[in-house]
Amino acid sequence: MVKLDYARLKNIRLEQDITQKELATATGVNLSTIKQIETGRSATDLENIEKLCAYLEVDINEIYHPDYHDTKVLCMLNNKGGCGKTSLCSGIATSMAELGLRILVIDGDGQRNLSSSFDMPRSEKNFGAAVLAEQDLNGYIQPTKFENIDIIVADVSMGTLDMALFTKISRENIVRSILRPVVERGYYDYILIDTNPNLSLLNFNIVNASNYVLIPAQPASWTAWRWCCNLSRVSNRTTRPCRWAASSSIATMPATA
Ligand SMILES: Nc1ncnc2c1ncn2[C@@H]1O[C@H](COP(=O)(O)OP(=O)(O)OP(=O)(O)O)[C@@H](O)[C@H]1O
Ligand SMILES: [Mg+2]
Repeated sequence: MVKLDYARLKNIRLEQDITQKELATATGVNLSTIKQIETGRSATDLENIEKLCAYLEVDINEIYHPDYHDTKVLCMLNNKGGCGKTSLCSGIATSMAELGLRILVIDGDGQRNLSSSFDMPRSEKNFGAAVLAEQDLNGYIQPTKFENIDIIVADVSMGTLDMALFTKISRENIVRSILRPVVERGYYDYILIDTNPNLSLLNFNIVNASNYVLIPAQPASWTAWRWCCNLSRVSNRTTRPCRWAASSSIATMPATA
């Protein structure tokens, strides 16, 4: 599902043998606006979408889904331990949730620090179990006590997950494929994934499932050198494009904190 099924709208116009120019003249909607709507670049221009639907005699509810959220996946990554991945993940999640955005956090670290920070007990329905069974992650989501934040918890058994994944087919894309149904459901605005402090197969999986990668790093020489090396290693092995950003989390903490 998508917010606006613009391809369908275009097909209906073509089926009725109406040109974009004719539609513009008949509805009073600007020609360039029609072009933008039909290519999905203006999926929220409701007033004009309504005019087009009325003229083409299409029920707007068939092609427009206002509650659909264009879910983006963002992960925190750095194989250096203790640099602020989990703190950043929970901080971003709570700030976004306070803004009214729907958030799913996924704990990708067997230490369970993110799960604990949301006060979640151990569960059979954990991220590692889903990855191992290659099952749709929708069935592993649990609510937290915080409004707008759901979670998929980690389990300590995830420490040996990499060994179990090693012989699987397409082993670097398992998370991407089991997360896809959650993304396509369009319920969440952001899915935030915390990773473990390793260059693990699970982390490669998580990067391959992400639109954005955020690297918290202390701006000290060894740390910077380390993550530059590792960044090139990880980015060379990713199977899809994603955006990378680094944040100096620990250095920006107020001195009094
Ligand atoms: N901005 C910050 N400034 C100072 N200390 C911080 C900051 N963010 C986190 N910390 C502290 O640094 C420590 C490590 O943070 P955190 O657990 O988030 O790192 P991590 O990268 O997730 O660690 P790990 O690799 O073990 O999972 C914690 O004690 C946390 O309270
Ligand atoms: Mg952590």
